[in-house]
Amino acid sequence: MNKNIESTLVEKRIFKPAKEFSKKARIGSMAQYQKMWKESVTKPEKFFAREAADLKWQKKWTKVLDWKCPYAKWFIGGKINVAENCLDRHLGTARHNKAAIVWQGEPVGEKRTLTYAQLHREVCRFSNALKRNGVKKGDRVLIYMPMVPEAAIAMLACARIGAMHSVVFGGFSAESIKDRVLDSGSKIILTADGGYRRGAVVPLKKNVDDAMTLLNNGGTNPVKRVIVFKRTGQDIHIEEGRDVWWHRELEYVDADCAPAQLDSETPLFILYTSGSTGKPKGILHTTGGYLLHAYMTCKYVFDLRDEDVYWCTADVGWVTGHTYMVYGPLAMGATSFMYEGAPNWPENDRFWQIIAENGVTVFYTAPTAIRAFMKWGDQWVTKHDLSSLRLLGTVGEPINPEAWMWYHRTIGGSRCPIVDTWWQTETGGHMITPLPGATPTKPGTATLPFFGVDAAIVDDAGNELGANQGGKLVIRKPWPSMLRGIWGDKARYKQTYWSEYKGMYFAGDGARRDEHGNFWIVGRIDDVLNVAGHRLGTAEVESALVSHPSVAEAAVVGKPDELKGQAVVCFVTVKTGITTSKELANDLKKHVRTVIGPVATPDEIRFTDALPKTRSGKIMRRLLKQVAAGELIKGDTTTLEDLSVLAKLATAED
Ligand code: PRX
Repeated sequence: MNKNIESTLVEKRIFKPAKEFSKKARIGSMAQYQKMWKESVTKPEKFFAREAADLKWQKKWTKVLDWKCPYAKWFIGGKINVAENCLDRHLGTARHNKAAIVWQGEPVGEKRTLTYAQLHREVCRFSNALKRNGVKKGDRVLIYMPMVPEAAIAMLACARIGAMHSVVFGGFSAESIKDRVLDSGSKIILTADGGYRRGAVVPLKKNVDDAMTLLNNGGTNPVKRVIVFKRTGQDIHIEEGRDVWWHRELEYVDADCAPAQLDSETPLFILYTSGSTGKPKGILHTTGGYLLHAYMTCKYVFDLRDEDVYWCTADVGWVTGHTYMVYGPLAMGATSFMYEGAPNWPENDRFWQIIAENGVTVFYTAPTAIRAFMKWGDQWVTKHDLSSLRLLGTVGEPINPEAWMWYHRTIGGSRCPIVDTWWQTETGGHMITPLPGATPTKPGTATLPFFGVDAAIVDDAGNELGANQGGKLVIRKPWPSMLRGIWGDKARYKQTYWSEYKGMYFAGDGARRDEHGNFWIVGRIDDVLNVAGHRLGTAEVESALVSHPSVAEAAVVGKPDELKGQAVVCFVTVKTGITTSKELANDLKKHVRTVIGPVATPDEIRFTDALPKTRSGKIMRRLLKQVAAGELIKGDTTTLEDLSVLAKLATAED
């Protein structure tokens, strides 16, 4: 856990599930969890075959798992369509006219509800619109949308026809869109004129236009079509022959579109995420296994019921939005709430007002948000009736015990269990998490592995460590929703996840297990930052900085931050003849925003004459982290090339 947000409070209490909660929950005791978990890892074929029978298969599989490390295939020979499971399966049942998506726009008063029947119709129509625009099975479709139901409709339409989506978060820049278009080979982009965020309009179409210009100037632009959803009504550029309006496209299509018959291992989506080296990598997820894990975790971790109103606050541009706003809850036939904008618009109580107004029962958010709510003060919360809530969840970064306790008391009224869910873009769904009716929790631990997850803490040699010894988090067996690869880069897949230890998936996180077997996640131990729950590669920010004409070298590290978990600190050396100044620092921040997007905005630029390096030329990040955090430099510095660099760094201009 980060130093700054590390607990001053050591919460020793164990929070056991309330009896009434356990009685109703699908998994109501530790004995039941342990029995099922044991079966799930010792006889995964039997266990997952039973669970998968809940889903609708167009054709049953002939074999559950084929594992040739590091390549897994699940439900071989089976045919299944994700959209059919999320939509058609509920039609003609009591869920036919149930709310599938309840949406609120950021401007107060804007609301929409789509029932399962209506969502099905819209997805079928948009599937036909995609087909009409030449999209076929296996094609990549880039989605750069605001948080409106059409984002989910677009994803489900791709899934229905067997095309792969690649959703790009609205906080990424034109340059990032360009990189993702080229890497994925997307021929079509789905976007909107804009989206609302904190009272302003995010110029989504303008960013797409800029990306198109960059691609055209580069000589290779695979994008032939841009479909634009009218959200804000602002003036935008429409490129004749390339750009078309979403609503116009729907005029030409009907509402019949049979779900494609898809092999269980058909690619479902690519989602780009940051790694410790190079550009973001396209994490590839496939159909049957991913859907099963999304479904099962909603069933057992959120224990979703027909009467629930479930709200996951993540943007659809992140994996949490994929699995826990769209696919998991809809596969369960739940009501998934969706909100377009910021938590503090028009005022700091927007979330609590939404919960009260819509009777939200299950609420899933990030520690960063919880820390901000704490800072804003209880008065924003207590004026609303939050008694509808029955379960709370958190994801994205370690949660400090103070934030956990505040969430428990102030939001959960001391009655709602909290599920602290550890997982990653690569894992597709929850991996280490309490089950709310069974697992005793303690603030700060994600507790125990989910079904099918064989997690362990190992030392550098790969040996499993004993209780309370810090080490690296690994997964020793394949699970249904594990990534199937990195798009277009087989070698990087093996290298990144499977080369640290033979036969084990290396997550990139440090952790320890306590004497009760609970996992305590410390955070990334590679060169990946976690800024406000968003992953950011230090290498990405460094390469953005050195692409500025004034910069010679850059090293980026994280610094503990009370609200965001980590803040981005950049140590920069400038080229000969360049004078450093506040203006240049601001210009560099702006430059990073342009290259990567607002999501990567540096918090501090520190100019320095040189960067501390080892004799072999490696930047000593450990030292930089200590300097950034304002700590005295500790540890071995004997391999440092030029010790005088340290003195200069400590006083580097901010
Ligand atoms: O470091 C872990 C942290 O977030 C990383 C994964 O980031 P991403 O792929 O963007 O997915 C975020 C949403 C699933 C992990 O390697 N992380 C995620 N959840 C937790 C966490 N750290 C501690 N506790 C968690 N509950």
